Order: sequence, then structure tokens, then C-alpha cells
Amino acid sequence: MTIDSSSFPSDFVWGAATASYQIEGAAHEDGRGESVWDRFCATPGKVRSGDTGEVACDFYHRYRDDVKLMKELGLDAFRFSIAWPRILPDGRGKVNEAGLDFYDRLVDELLANGIEPFATLFHWDSPQVLEEEGGWRVRSTAEAFVDYTEIVANRLGDRVRHWITHNEPWVYAWIGHEWGRHAPGHESEAEAVAVAHHLLLSHGWAVEAIRGAAPDARVGITLNLGQAYPVTDTPEDEAAAWKVDGESNRWFLDPIFRGSYPADLLERNELVEPVLQAGDLATISTPIDFLGVNNYFRFLIGAGADGPKMERNPDAEYTDMDWEVYPEGLRKLLVRLAKDYSPPAIYITENGAAFPDIRSHDGHVHDLERTAYLEGHVGAVAQAIADGSPVKGYFVWSLLDNFEWAEGYSKRFGIVYIDYPTLERVPKDSFYWYRDLISSWRGAPRPSAPIAAA
Ligand code: FCB
Repeated sequence: MTIDSSSFPSDFVWGAATASYQIEGAAHEDGRGESVWDRFCATPGKVRSGDTGEVACDFYHRYRDDVKLMKELGLDAFRFSIAWPRILPDGRGKVNEAGLDFYDRLVDELLANGIEPFATLFHWDSPQVLEEEGGWRVRSTAEAFVDYTEIVANRLGDRVRHWITHNEPWVYAWIGHEWGRHAPGHESEAEAVAVAHHLLLSHGWAVEAIRGAAPDARVGITLNLGQAYPVTDTPEDEAAAWKVDGESNRWFLDPIFRGSYPADLLERNELVEPVLQAGDLATISTPIDFLGVNNYFRFLIGAGADGPKMERNPDAEYTDMDWEVYPEGLRKLLVRLAKDYSPPAIYITENGAAFPDIRSHDGHVHDLERTAYLEGHVGAVAQAIADGSPVKGYFVWSLLDNFEWAEGYSKRFGIVYIDYPTLERVPKDSFYWYRDLISSWRGAPRPSAPIAAA
């Protein structure tokens, strides 16, 4: 597929995304406290091959070289997250200046290279001390998050304009608290619902806190969203798909954009009651400047004996995560979001694919499948824009191969290959494809470009 780069507006943002625990390493340096992911990785049997984020890509020490790679790529923006335990090793209270200094240097390095920082405040690495006081199951963690947000926004808000409060609250709540497959590894639906509520509540508070510290800030939240398709058009399959849509998409979209939880999810509504306080939904629906969308696959759903069931598409290609490749699902999702929720702007804050890359005899990584995946999905974004969806930017997941949570280092999502034993960076073919896309877009004729004053 050839992408017509003039389909993207002249202020479109091309980016790449990462997260602190997945790339930084330096887990014990400069006063960083323990995170729930350090603890989870240290628990035998939780992460594949016993992998940990102790070293990861060593971005903490190599960020200057990585910013050079971003510059070579021609990125407009870089999305990274801030590790709360670097800033507040005890979760609250005493600030660790060395932790703030690291992000300060990173932001300066990005700006010096003409790259706009997009900072995420919480990408799952909660301070372990707070976890021991109840973690996100209790309201006091939401309060502590707002104090942390203020500290970071006061320090970086003069230079960071784009802020993302949370990354994928659904994943942190459900995979971490009901499925037990992510930190902190609990298995209770009631806990997951409480965690989701406190994440949302703290999001609303944080929007205000960031705006207080940095009046020009643009603030949003990143959700993992996927369009739910019924596998057939029977009423049973359609109802099952709608239920999945509610559990994964509307459970977050409705409170943020409409100030209510979806009425059809009765059991979950019962579970939220004990933690819901007067005024919470008004806080959660504080207007935001943009919605961050992470999308990797669609949901193909049938009605199973024990509830909705994920079906396989026999005609589709699947990635190394066993996720279906279906770019049209992204187009449909973006158009639907615009229609149902009218977000002022949308950024695709993550999209990409894992494939089992190998470094070939010529020293390069010929990742044809990833390149095709990205081409298909960027093409879907162009179509969504043509269909009226307010998409303002696209961030590939990920700049670098990195620590893929419970899968450890076994799944490679980067457009830059990491040779883990040496930590050498090797741009993959998809890196050059993305670089060429960005540069052809920069040079593309734009019918809507403003006419220069005579
Ligand atoms: C998302 C996460 C991100 C990464 C990708 C593959 O759910 O936000 O950290 O692991 O999946």
C-alpha cells in the first residue's frame, strides 16, 4: 500500500512511544525506589524466563544516543513515561531531586533536537510502598498521585506541553488485579473495578493539577481501545460483542466523556458503588484536550457458553503476540470515537507489532511484516482523517525493542533492534520506512497550505 502523505495535515505529529520501566534500566540508581514491577519480576514464575527491567535498554544512560536516532528518524515528538519511584521513592513525601534531574535532562535533550516531549505520568510502575498500603485499590493512592503530578508538572511544565495522565487504565486494573498476569498480580474483579475507578478519579484531579502548574498544557489520557466485531450477525454474537465493547472501551470512555458508567454493565456497576463518592464522576469528566488511543487489534467476538469469547479469523495474519492484523478496525474505531464521544483531538499514542526479528548476515533486520503492519495502520489513520476523525498524531510502538511485561524480552516491538547482550541499537527496515514516510510528508504538496502573504 502506498500512503499519500498529503492526507495528513501540516500540523500532524509523527512520534514514537516508550515507557519508563520498559526501557530505562538503572533500577537502583540515583535514589530510585522500588516499583510494583520490580517486585513482580522478582517473584518466581511471573515473567517469562525470569526477565526483569533492571537493565532493559539502559535508556537511563544512553538517552542521548537514542535522541540522535530519533533525530535521524525525523520525529516530531517522543512519548516517554516518568517513573514515579524515581521522583518519590516512598510514593509521597520527600522528593528525590536526582530523579527529577534525569527527566529534566531528557526534556532538554529532546527540545534541543527539535523533538516535542509527550510525557505520561503513570505507565504502571507504581511505588511498591504505596502498593503495600493498598495500592490503587484505595483512594489515598489517587491522592498521592496528584501530589506526584504537581511535583513533576512544576518542574517540567515550562517545557513539556503535552501530558498524558494514565496509560491504559484497563490493563493496569484488569490484567494486574483480576487476571493476575501483570503487577501487582491480584485476582479479584472487585479490586479491578476499584482500581479502575481510582485511576479515573486521579486522572480528573491530575488534569486540574497540571493546568494549575502549566496553564498552556494540553492534557489527555491514553486508553487501550479496540473495535468489537461480532463474529456473525446473530443477536447472541452481537450482544456478546457489545458486552466486550462495554467492558473494555465504554467503561472508560463513558465516565470521561459523559460523566457516567455504562448502564448495561450491571455487575460492574454494583462493584463500583462501594468506592464511588459524590462528585467523583464530575471530576472524572473534567474536559480534556485530547484522547490518546492505543490500538493493536480488534476484538472478534462470539457468544460462548461462559460469556463472550474471542474468536479467530482464519483468513488473517497474526503477530507474535497472537494479535490479529486488521487495520480497518483502527479506521472504524477512530470514526466511531469521533461520532460517539466528540474528543477535541485524538493522538494514536501507540500502534505497532511484535514479530520474531532476526539480525541477518548483512547485519540488518529485514522486518517486512512489521513494515506492512505499520503501512496498513498508518493508511487506516489517513482514511479515518478523511472520514472526519480529528486525529492529530501517530506514535509508533515502539522506538526500541524493550521489556514487554509478562513476556519479558521475548517480544520485539521496536523499529530499532536491541542486541541485548551488547545493548547495540540496530535500526530495522521499518525504521527507514518510517523515516522516509515522515520526510516525504514534510516535502508533500499540501492543497490546504496557507497562501503566503504577498
Ligand atoms: C500496551 C502497553 C505498552 C506495550 C504495548 C505492546 O498495552 O501500553 O507498554 O507493552 O502494549
